[in-house]
Amino acid sequence: MRNITLENITEAVVASMDGAIPERNREIMVAALKHIHAFMKEVNLTYDEWLEAMEWMRRAGDISDDARNEFILISDIIGVEVLADMLDKKPTHNETISTVLGPFYRDNPPVLPNGSSIIQKDFDKQETVRVSGRICDTDGNPVAGVTVDVWEDAPNGLYEQQDPDQPDYNLRGRLMTDQDGRYEFVGIRPVPYPIPYDGAAGELLKYMGHHPWRPGHIHFMIMKDGFKTLISQIYDSETEYLDNDSVFAVKEDLIGTLQPAPDGADTDYVMTFDFVIRSDAKLVQMAAAE
Ligand SMILES: [Fe+2]
Repeated sequence: MRNITLENITEAVVASMDGAIPERNREIMVAALKHIHAFMKEVNLTYDEWLEAMEWMRRAGDISDDARNEFILISDIIGVEVLADMLDKKPTHNETISTVLGPFYRDNPPVLPNGSSIIQKDFDKQETVRVSGRICDTDGNPVAGVTVDVWEDAPNGLYEQQDPDQPDYNLRGRLMTDQDGRYEFVGIRPVPYPIPYDGAAGELLKYMGHHPWRPGHIHFMIMKDGFKTLISQIYDSETEYLDNDSVFAVKEDLIGTLQPAPDGADTDYVMTFDFVIRSDAKLVQMAAAE
């Protein structure tokens, strides 16, 4: 196509793609091009606005490194990471719903016996909570030997890798469920924290007039061979920002309740939260039944 116009530009770019590319590439690119071009036409994007966007993306790249992926933060604040999670990890049975992994997971946390504390450093005015529960399969049978990784931010709102004053792997731990499918650990009552807003993601939040805060939560990654890995977060029912999480990751079913601990307990609060995980065999059974 030689004479490119407002009317034929989308068609021209679609037609430029090689017929031999994988079908999925074509499906994604055709839809992306149609939507991007239609969006530009809808808002009558100016050349300066386009240039501003390109410079903003360059800054997003500049601030990214091995420890920080600004594009994930950007996708979070426009609801794209959580949308990908909802599309790809739809529950097929009654398993606990997932939510986003977030940027702060670290593999190989300290392996701890059930009931251990993940607190390596105390903060003024911290509140402690004993978290426990059972992990069952979709038929209600407890699952033993499940690996449970947990991680959370400190009372200053920072994960340990963001804070040189916290010990390595502070507020992280790896537990294993016992014969009854039980897990238990002591952590900090989770506090809200802002996602990093000193870069391009922060610029976008400002542009959108949205705040960077997330409600207090504890992250879980629950893994066992033969089961779908469950990545989720449990929210404190009393925390702020449950209704306006900056990354849109809250689900009603993931809200837990902290109760004052009984007299003589060694924590301020207790919280029970049970999880249901789905075995791969269930999916095979479901496919066979269809
Ligand atoms: Fe988090």
